[in-house]
Amino acid sequence: MMVRMKETLSKLISKLSQGRILVVGDLVIDEMVYGATHRLSREAPVLILRHQRADIILGAAGNAAHNVARLNAKRTAVVGVSGKDYYCSLLIEALQRDGIDSVGLIQDEDRPTSTKTRISGIANHSVTQQIVRIDRESAAPVSAKVENQLLDTLSKLAPDFDALLLSDYGLGVFTPAVIEHCQKLSQKHEILMAVDSQGDLSAFQGASIITPNQPEAEKNVGFNLDAPADVLKGGQVLLEKTNAQNVLITRGESGMSLFERQPDDKTPKATNIPVFNHSEVFDVTGAGDTVVGTLTLALTAGASLLEAAVLGNLAASIVVKRFGAATTNQQELLAALDSLDESLLQNLGSSPMQV
Ligand SMILES: Nc1ncnc2c1ncn2[C@@H]1O[C@H](COP(=O)(O)OP(=O)(O)OP(=O)(O)O)[C@@H](O)[C@H]1O
Ligand SMILES: [Mg+2]
Repeated sequence: MMVRMKETLSKLISKLSQGRILVVGDLVIDEMVYGATHRLSREAPVLILRHQRADIILGAAGNAAHNVARLNAKRTAVVGVSGKDYYCSLLIEALQRDGIDSVGLIQDEDRPTSTKTRISGIANHSVTQQIVRIDRESAAPVSAKVENQLLDTLSKLAPDFDALLLSDYGLGVFTPAVIEHCQKLSQKHEILMAVDSQGDLSAFQGASIITPNQPEAEKNVGFNLDAPADVLKGGQVLLEKTNAQNVLITRGESGMSLFERQPDDKTPKATNIPVFNHSEVFDVTGAGDTVVGTLTLALTAGASLLEAAVLGNLAASIVVKRFGAATTNQQELLAALDSLDESLLQNLGSSPMQV
């Protein structure tokens, strides 16, 4: 049974390259500026760094898209909003560099390109230390004009994709009209709609799957999800509140809990998936984007919900070993699957209520 699960997962990993995913959401640039510690300034009691390099990394919805593209998806495109500024050109360049189609990017001169700039000092024989972070962002909803452009772009692009991945970081893209339009398009073209939102999940009705992390799930249900019985209740409440087909709560070092709606409104099926990597965790930033990206792509490849969640978990076990918002690829997934302790897959389907 379990050997077969490994076999099935391995086949699914090779099929990830068939999926076409349209990522809709709040695109962010993570700008990492590094300088060597040089001397103290004479104009103020501050450290002067000598600039060494700046890395531009896709964050938020961009990171979800980057994860999909790195898994060799047949097509990855984004629909989102940037400013019309210096950082916008860096964003377009980074999307192109990372194999993501940027035709759906709308430029709005009235808002900044969302950017988080981290300035870090490097000292010989010492750790690299982040000194300060500068954020440029606007949480204001997009204007009516930009909203209309988003709706048009979505209508044009959606028919060419197998899934919509909505990645909401609260930076203005998801107005009620945009959400409603995504729902309509997913129904009309019979394509999946996966939702990863930091906000009010009940605003996203009728998704194929929603993937809140534990704090987001707790905020939405109004109680803590520490005890197993509370996790179970939390999953049920989220299914009811959002009318989603499925709910995946990612729970950091406790792994993830999957809730699948059953026909005839029977009690949902709940399955707990433990983390696959406890020992080498370095940086969990963006692991949730990796989960939703991998899971959505796996679903378009024909995976069951459980198989897709397991692959998301496997991908997360790789990226948490890496600094910042990281990605993985098919080869690394296959290698991780190969060396995965089989006992971790053994009881997944058979002990559904053990959350
Ligand atoms: N401390 C950890 N140890 C092992 N695995 C982890 C840890 N934290 C996260 N993971 C893995 O990453 C997955 C997603 O993590 P998490 O629930 O923290 O998502 P998230 O908070 O949405 O992340 P982000 O919003 O930064 O993208 C978990 O389900 C698990 O597989
Ligand atoms: Mg998240």
